Amino acid sequence: MHPSFLEILCCPHTRSALTLKEPEYDSNGLLISGKLYNERGDEYPIIRGVPRFVGQESYSQSFGYEWHRWSRVQFESENIGTRLAGHTTRMFDSVTDFTAQKINGGMVVEFGCGPGRFLDIVRTRGAKAVGLELSSAVDVARRNFAGDVNVLIVQGDILQPPFKNKVFDYGYTIGVLHHTPKPAHGLKQLVQLVKPGGKIACCVYESTDGKGLYDSKAVLAYRWFFNSLPAGAGHVLARWYAYFSAYILYWFFAPAFRIPGLSAIAGWLSSRLFPGVYYLRNAKWRVLDTFDAITPTYASTHTKTEVQAWFTEAGCVNTTVRPFGSTSLVAEAPNQ
Ligand SMILES: C[S@@+](CC[C@H](N)C(=O)[O-])C[C@H]1O[C@@H](n2cnc3c(N)ncnc32)[C@H](O)[C@@H]1O
Repeated sequence: MHPSFLEILCCPHTRSALTLKEPEYDSNGLLISGKLYNERGDEYPIIRGVPRFVGQESYSQSFGYEWHRWSRVQFESENIGTRLAGHTTRMFDSVTDFTAQKINGGMVVEFGCGPGRFLDIVRTRGAKAVGLELSSAVDVARRNFAGDVNVLIVQGDILQPPFKNKVFDYGYTIGVLHHTPKPAHGLKQLVQLVKPGGKIACCVYESTDGKGLYDSKAVLAYRWFFNSLPAGAGHVLARWYAYFSAYILYWFFAPAFRIPGLSAIAGWLSSRLFPGVYYLRNAKWRVLDTFDAITPTYASTHTKTEVQAWFTEAGCVNTTVRPFGSTSLVAEAPNQ
């Protein structure tokens, strides 16, 4: 990490400033290890260039597993010339309105960055990119941005973020708050970190009364099953199912969804028995997204009204719904 990022960090519990001790730097002057202390002597280590504010992954183990296995599948650079070229950038632009003109030269934070596919877009648009992530995916993200002085990866909890208030120009969280026990609280924390007038974007799973993948009966049952097994076994079985769905079931479901008459049967089967991401024309990406749907400990779904209320309660103004979907919104941080 570049040492200049130290000034935005604070203790997540007392909110006080931190003092660095025993720092070690690499040959480029980047901080690779050290210890951060708050005013009462609590210690937070910096390990392999990542400041760590949580001792363990907590409920995010499935994500640690997922991102170590599929560390760059969704990165734009991995998809050049393929059918999914541009997919991640289009998703970012339909959830946020953070164009290069707006964010260039600013500092942008992502809550729940995983391995960093969206941070990669932010940094290429000329902004400093800061990712907060609970799981061991921080080590994957750090490797993905090795040596980049404009990227900071931090291991911590978005429900108790280790950043000072109002230090970021923009903040976003995509596909994350519904994986926490307190999504509204998570958004409030993000809003507090953004400067007055700065923008915040948030995208969460939409409630569909069981018609969509994420709240279908099949996905709910699979999640319950994999989470009731010991973590190691649950992850391996879920991975096998994800491969089965992406490489075998896909060849029935993808055409069936396009044939009138068969599409209703395919819809019934996928929502009751064989969940999967059957619309993506990239097998690795299907495996990853299917695993991602059937394993998380928390995965709530929400309505537009709920998400609007979260923004309002956090003091935001000018809330607008984004093209990505009814539960993708952008708003302005409060003016004080
Ligand atoms: C579905 S992934 C999305 C990752 C990234 N936003 C993307 O779309 O590529 C959700 C991420 O949120 C992280 N996460 C969940 N709860 C969190 C928390 N309380 N604090 C920080 N990260 C969290 C997970 O570990 C996981 O990497």
